[in-house]
Amino acid sequence: MEQGLALHHIGVRFGGLTALDDVSLRVPPGAVVGVIGPNGAGKTTLFNVICGFVVPDSGSLSLDGAPLRPRPHRLTRLGVARTLQGTGLFAGLTVLENVMAGATCTARAGFLSALFALPGSDRDERRLRRHALDILDDLGIAGHADAAPGTLPFAVRQRVALARALAARPRLLLLDEPAGGLGDTDIAELAELIRQLPRRDTHPCAVLLVEHHMDLVMSVCDEIVVLDFGRVIATGTPDEIRDAPAVADAYLGAAVDEETVA
Ligand SMILES: Nc1ncnc2c1ncn2[C@@H]1O[C@H](COP(=O)(O)OP(=O)(O)OP(=O)(O)O)[C@@H](O)[C@H]1O
Ligand SMILES: [Mg+2]
Repeated sequence: MEQGLALHHIGVRFGGLTALDDVSLRVPPGAVVGVIGPNGAGKTTLFNVICGFVVPDSGSLSLDGAPLRPRPHRLTRLGVARTLQGTGLFAGLTVLENVMAGATCTARAGFLSALFALPGSDRDERRLRRHALDILDDLGIAGHADAAPGTLPFAVRQRVALARALAARPRLLLLDEPAGGLGDTDIAELAELIRQLPRRDTHPCAVLLVEHHMDLVMSVCDEIVVLDFGRVIATGTPDEIRDAPAVADAYLGAAVDEETVA
């Protein structure tokens, strides 16, 4: 049986525009797989197909060999968590509560009854609180547990969003442009964090990273898939991708276009 997530010959069209064309890729357990490509290459569309926001016109997906028809609200139950571009945190909840909210699929009754202060939920809520605090601690931000997300620097908020995704104990984590808006130091720390996710003793998870930032992708991924105009133009290790002429052409072409526009 084929373990992990697999996309088979995915095609997506928006009207006359082909956003994805015959895209196949795999994210095996324990791997960090990156998807890169110039603007408009189809990265976000691919992410949205895996999350169930976009239904492909052709092709199929599978998870551990079983057919997968993703629906956004069912993802965590399947062991798949995601962060979105931007942080999407609940402004009215503390950092800790945000992370507890991320675990609701495994402790739904506990969190909801705690939220509405129903009787008999104390023990569940304590367990959930402990779990969320452990994750914050793992990510080095336990000191911000009681803060309102809006009062924190962007890099910390990004980490809270990651903690919230991890609270569901996913086997696969989908990250959409996690380096967006981060400085170099923050990116280096994020890279370290992503590298460790599949290697953790408890609840290790594979990662699919959709990212513009080449250096980050090169430094954390076991395998990289390069998209250009919706097609896979190269797949390989970071070293193989760095040396692939097709990749240089795609990025150089994009850079020249941007210069022309600017
Ligand atoms: N909902 C939509 N309706 C119509 N066209 C769309 C839609 N979403 C994306 N597209 C088009 O599909 C193509 C792929 O877009 P996508 O957003 O997936 O690229 P991307 O690789 O994420 O780009 P970027 O690096 O700029 O984020 C683009 O030409 C885009 O204009
Ligand atoms: Mg995008």
